[in-house]
Amino acid sequence: MKNPDGYGKQTRECGDTVEIFLKVSGENITSVSFNISGCVNTYACAKAVVSLIEGKKISEAWKINPEKIATYIKTLPPEEIHCAELAVEALRIALMNYREIAISPWKKIYRA
Ligand code: FES
Repeated sequence: MKNPDGYGKQTRECGDTVEIFLKVSGENITSVSFNISGCVNTYACAKAVVSLIEGKKISEAWKINPEKIATYIKTLPPEEIHCAELAVEALRIALMNYREIAISPWKKIYRA
């Protein structure tokens, strides 16, 4: 996604990485995309984040947690909950980035 309103990237010790990109209009998340480098469970969790927050309000996105992702996916093995944690961490970084840019729009220009 080009020029996202919010961007988050997180890597875990295992090496898996999730990036989340947000487009926001008013209080609504109008578009979400992701990039991952990692296992199939990480892919499923990042995709679940997109499904759970696209078209929703920012305040609802803050309520997403690993358990909600696991419930949504249904087949995530309990021992792989860390993949959902990774996706949620990337989402929260993207939400914080959105908040930061909303306060200081010039920061969007200088984001790498
Ligand atoms: Fe590392 Fe999924 S195996 S986050």
